[in-house]
Amino acid sequence: MKKILVLYYSRTGNTGKMADAVAEGAGAVHGVDVEVKYYATPEELADFDAVVVGVPTYHHDMTVDIKKLFEEAAVKNVNLKAKTGAAFGSYGWSGEAPKLVLEIMENKFGMDIIESPLLIKYTPDKTGLEKCRKLGREIVERLIPKV
Ligand SMILES: Cc1cc2nc3c(=O)[nH]c(=O)nc-3n(C[C@H](O)[C@H](O)[C@H](O)COP(=O)(O)O)c2cc1C
Repeated sequence: MKKILVLYYSRTGNTGKMADAVAEGAGAVHGVDVEVKYYATPEELADFDAVVVGVPTYHHDMTVDIKKLFEEAAVKNVNLKAKTGAAFGSYGWSGEAPKLVLEIMENKFGMDIIESPLLIKYTPDKTGLEKCRKLGREIVERLIPKV
């Protein structure tokens, strides 16, 4: 059973809606265990085959919780090498945060990332939520080729 973590932060709920849809897309495939969390310890990240991070952009940056998590994971040498990584998030006008997360996943932790980050402006509509479900399915395909 492949394990996928969808870890997100959301202040006004938009990235939260995206997180639920990503999890729905990934969870639709048999043989996959998806956990949606608002908080994880750095060590917990290593328990999953894929780590998917949802983060909105505030002040041209990722939110402090997610930044702190990666900082602590680096300090504690949490091994995420070759695990699948993906990022998504709601934004208003610039949307840097998910790109920054993917950069760290790839360059610092050597993860196998899914390009590009999924960005949705403000509240996801029907089309946006479908894009989120598609990202969920893509993550599973990366973990289990030929699903
Ligand atoms: C104080 C503040 C600062 C923000 N800064 C940015 C920003 O730098 N770039 C951007 O694209 N959006 C910015 N936004 C817009 C948020 O990313 C947007 O509202 C998003 O939908 C919030 O997602 P959430 O509901 O998951 O918290 C900002 C919003 C607020 C309230």
